[in-house]
Amino acid sequence: MDLLDTELYSSKPLQFGRELKKHFPLDADITYCNHGSFGATPLCVIQEQRRIQDDMNKWPCHFTWRKSLPLYKQALEPLADFMGTKTKNLVFIANTTTGLNSVLKSLNLRPGSAIMGTSLTYGAVQYAIQETVRIKPGLKSLFMDIIFPIHSKQDLIDRFTSYLDEHPNIKLAVIDHITSPSAVLMPIQELVALFHSREIFVAVDGAHAAGQVQVNLDELDADFYTSSMHKWLFAPRGCGFLYISPRHQGNVHPAITSWDYAGSDMHAEFQKEGTRDQTPYFSVPAAIRFYQEIGGWETVRNYCRPLADDVVDLLVKAWHTEKLPIPRELEAPCLRLVRVPFIEGYHRADVSISRCLHNEFMPTIFISLYYKVNEYILIHLNVVLDPISSKLGRLCRVLAQNDARWDYLYMQLGDTSLLMDKTESDLKLQEHIFFEYKLQLIMISCQGKSYVRVATPAYTDHRDFEEMARIVLEIQAKANVCRSNAST
Ligand SMILES: Cc1ncc(COP(=O)(O)O)c(C=O)c1O
Repeated sequence: MDLLDTELYSSKPLQFGRELKKHFPLDADITYCNHGSFGATPLCVIQEQRRIQDDMNKWPCHFTWRKSLPLYKQALEPLADFMGTKTKNLVFIANTTTGLNSVLKSLNLRPGSAIMGTSLTYGAVQYAIQETVRIKPGLKSLFMDIIFPIHSKQDLIDRFTSYLDEHPNIKLAVIDHITSPSAVLMPIQELVALFHSREIFVAVDGAHAAGQVQVNLDELDADFYTSSMHKWLFAPRGCGFLYISPRHQGNVHPAITSWDYAGSDMHAEFQKEGTRDQTPYFSVPAAIRFYQEIGGWETVRNYCRPLADDVVDLLVKAWHTEKLPIPRELEAPCLRLVRVPFIEGYHRADVSISRCLHNEFMPTIFISLYYKVNEYILIHLNVVLDPISSKLGRLCRVLAQNDARWDYLYMQLGDTSLLMDKTESDLKLQEHIFFEYKLQLIMISCQGKSYVRVATPAYTDHRDFEEMARIVLEIQAKANVCRSNAST
């Protein structure tokens, strides 16, 4: 298909699944099962972005000086309608990371205040919180552990309530609408009410929400809400928005300080970020039009959510495993975690450092597994005799001697985990599946178990996930043959 010559709406009614996938430039040879990370942009939106880029390239000065700001403001209009607010409360930003950085770095919290996230907060956002408290003396960061299983929505809300009882100094909470990589749909309306009842500001990380769940920003009434529209709203990459409640306008500035700093026009201030290509923002009306033309929120949800349900069943049955233990009401519509079966050769602990830890601590602490993930360490410990706390200092020393950054240490006591990411073995499996089988998936490690995060945008269908199920079983079967050959 010619990239610049798509007549999207010629073949109505548009079919979801493989028919819809033809409207994306995705490589037809790759089974694409990880929409969640970076989204996918339809050809018609790319076409619109190129049209605007052509215009920009014809007269760079005229475009930048005279056309950019009006285009920026115009593009906010359909977005404001879509997200249930007014343009005056919205600014474009490159992505969720930028949006949250703008909020975190701008707010003047009193010394002694704490900013809270959770153990499910996106890693880059955890860093942004840590950096904020580093550059603003007197502030503290707190991360509430969210341990699975979660039994009900109320169970989760109760955990937040107890945490706030224990930490009355929290003044800002950064809460995901849909957590990533764990794919928990947070009870965001109830949490905003809970935080506000304690005079805590709430910044919602809605990176995965816009386009996946219906959001009415005015009704939600969070202090800040940010999302990356390249994920589920079909915008070009590098396209997000930040909602700033009228209560805070004038107090939040762009993460990049530039022209119009602290001026009276919030749009003008956020639009100036130095010189850069803002055509992703100007393409948002085309992205929203695409979303509406394929049926809009209801139609998309009515296809994608049952598909996610079916795919989870399919994988659980095929692999004889289970989904992440969360209640139905906290399941994201199109993003779920399913455990992959144990595969010999992939799911094995790295023994080098664990041998050292064993020597140091056995028999007081039994170290069952060890992974090194970039600079993080993830350990499964079973405390045999003493409480772990009395051993922490020594444990940290051993880790430090082994090059581990123990100040960012996430530990696993019993079978509870604070870090969700990929282990080296998960990454190896993910890469093997991509290069050998041409299927893109994303592996997630959670509480010592390996999961695949399933994403079901409207251009996927059952066949993609049947393929995923088959490939994993084939790799497992081959690994078992190798093991039995080795042992004979
Ligand atoms: C919950 C969450 N927050 C923030 C981000 C960062 O998004 P971006 O890279 O678009 O800034 C992501 C990306 O996956 C995410 O899942």
